[in-house]
Amino acid sequence: MQSLFRLTLDTNPEDCNLKCIMCEEHSRYSNFKNELFASTGVKARRMSSTWIDKIFQEANELGVKEIIPSTMGEPLLYKDIDTFFQLASKYDIKINLTTNGTFPKREVKEWAKLIIPVTSDTKISLNGVTKDIAESIMHGLSFEEHVSNLKTFIEYRNLHHKKSGFYSRVTLQLTFMQNNMHQLPEIIKFGASMGVDRIKGHHLWTHFAEIRDLSFKKNQESIAEWNLIVDKANDAVDAFRKPSGEKILLEQIDYLNEKETSLIPESYTCPFLGKELWVSATGKISPCCAPDKERDSLGDFGNYQNKTFTEVLNSEVYKDLITNYKQKPLCQTCVMRKPL
Ligand SMILES: C[S@@+](CC[C@H](N)C(=O)[O-])C[C@H]1O[C@@H](n2cnc3c(N)ncnc32)[C@H](O)[C@@H]1O
Ligand code: SF4
Ligand code: SF4
Repeated sequence: MQSLFRLTLDTNPEDCNLKCIMCEEHSRYSNFKNELFASTGVKARRMSSTWIDKIFQEANELGVKEIIPSTMGEPLLYKDIDTFFQLASKYDIKINLTTNGTFPKREVKEWAKLIIPVTSDTKISLNGVTKDIAESIMHGLSFEEHVSNLKTFIEYRNLHHKKSGFYSRVTLQLTFMQNNMHQLPEIIKFGASMGVDRIKGHHLWTHFAEIRDLSFKKNQESIAEWNLIVDKANDAVDAFRKPSGEKILLEQIDYLNEKETSLIPESYTCPFLGKELWVSATGKISPCCAPDKERDSLGDFGNYQNKTFTEVLNSEVYKDLITNYKQKPLCQTCVMRKPL
């Protein structure tokens, strides 16, 4: 019997209330939505609510521990997000959430009451600890509201932990860019003072020419700059503790090899293969969350409308990817691969 750790459902990729500069779909530099509309006549893809129950059922049979709603677009804007939380409770599968932290259309506390009891980890995106930096990256954000939302959310998490014993982790999710990471020690200080458990992130996927210069992988100088930031981040973790006295956890804030500007070291492994699957709003099944267009080069894994997850896991194309991904050009430059 096959098993799976996690599923990601791209429930509502076109729904967002922000326009972050680096966002593949919602950035002002992106032509994604225009192209989608021109090629399909569809303005916004949204996962059918009738699929959700079936997906949770099969996930339960496969022993899935976590389900992630939408890694593109804002999941809290998904029309059936309340059903999502109800099903998580019904099947005792935890939600793993990444949100932009705007908590739209409801009070933050109301969201927290829905989210915290069924969520293993809430990643709140943060791209600066000063108004100018944060708002210049996450266009449409109010920095003051962002900070206040985070505070209210963590207060409720702490209260729920005290009452129920269940601990729902809160993480700050960063995008590592040359215009924000000089603030990383300050971000660690800020996160620790708020009671955030973990700070993680990804190096920039350079979807557009306009943001190419922001990548730390641009050249050896920028890689050296990143490595100095990693040093300072490690010092900051020691210096700035959570209210409990514990250290905040850093993840993916690792040194870059100065000789490598694009190719990932052979020993780095893919964190997803054999453990996770992705389902798009239209049912397309994928082995990871690499950018949409490039991901097709990994193979055709079928559509949820006519394939079960077990069939995908047992398919030749999936097994071949697990064995040979390090030879695939996309995987050779994939920023998500991790040192063992
Ligand atoms: C695409 S968003 C979807 C969830 C939600 N809307 C949010 O922003 O948290 C998921 C995460 O990817 C990050 N991200 C966006 N564009 C990126 C890029 N070009 N490279 C690396 N990370 C990126 C976002 O900052 C966010 O933390
Ligand atoms: S909030 Fe998330 S989905 Fe929305 S623009 Fe920013 S990165 Fe993209
Ligand atoms: S691109 Fe390749 S290495 Fe990267 S996450 Fe996808 S399968 Fe894994």
